[in-house]
Amino acid sequence: MTESIYIKHINEERIKFYKEFFKKNNFVLCKDVLTEKGIEILKQNIIFQSDVSDKSQFCRRMFTVEDDKNDILLQFQKDTLFFFQKILGEEYSDTYLFAMEYVKDSHLTPHLDLISNGVSATVCYEADKKYPIFVGKKYYTNNSINRIDIQITEEEKQNSFLIDADVGDIAMFNGRNYLHWRDKAEDDVSYKAVLTHYWKPFDWIDKEKLKENYIEGEHLYNESYHERYPSLKYKILKEKNSEAETKDN
Ligand SMILES: [Fe+2]
Repeated sequence: MTESIYIKHINEERIKFYKEFFKKNNFVLCKDVLTEKGIEILKQNIIFQSDVSDKSQFCRRMFTVEDDKNDILLQFQKDTLFFFQKILGEEYSDTYLFAMEYVKDSHLTPHLDLISNGVSATVCYEADKKYPIFVGKKYYTNNSINRIDIQITEEEKQNSFLIDADVGDIAMFNGRNYLHWRDKAEDDVSYKAVLTHYWKPFDWIDKEKLKENYIEGEHLYNESYHERYPSLKYKILKEKNSEAETKDN
């Protein structure tokens, strides 16, 4: 297996288990996969603002690529891509990422993710309490480019998976087609994670069916994403897109 700063050596049997579990359940929790060294690097370099950045819904502290003077997030993304690709498939590429600290009053309303976020991963590197995410079991066809909030029934809420990523664990799930949410954190909590996202473009883009106008170069393809996230390889994706169109016709 590739030498990695952040991911422990994991044998092929375990990788196969994760891969099959994800395929079957649309989520997987990979326990104790981060290295001690990797955890330390994240702890030392990700410094959250003391203010909560988003009081309106999430009540969270964010650390983005713009805050990241040492490019720790981009290094993390590059170093760990092999691991996600082993589980999801090599055709997946990384899109955007940021770090998040959930604190008291944080919550996350049930929603489906935006188009560039086919698979979400929560990489927990520091936490003083548990703060699980719930993933629903009902499949939603999603023809929206944007994130959409959805009213959830009590039945759906009860019939969900609780994914409890502790320090050193990575949880990943298909947030495009399955509702996911976090309950309001009533207690003082500090739960820190890198949230990183993956996609396999041409499975999801059916331009005929999309609810919003799909504009080439917008959303994931836009230039600001490309500058912030060089791994997106904007031009290559654009070329692939025209190939895909040719094949479809
Ligand atoms: Fe989400």
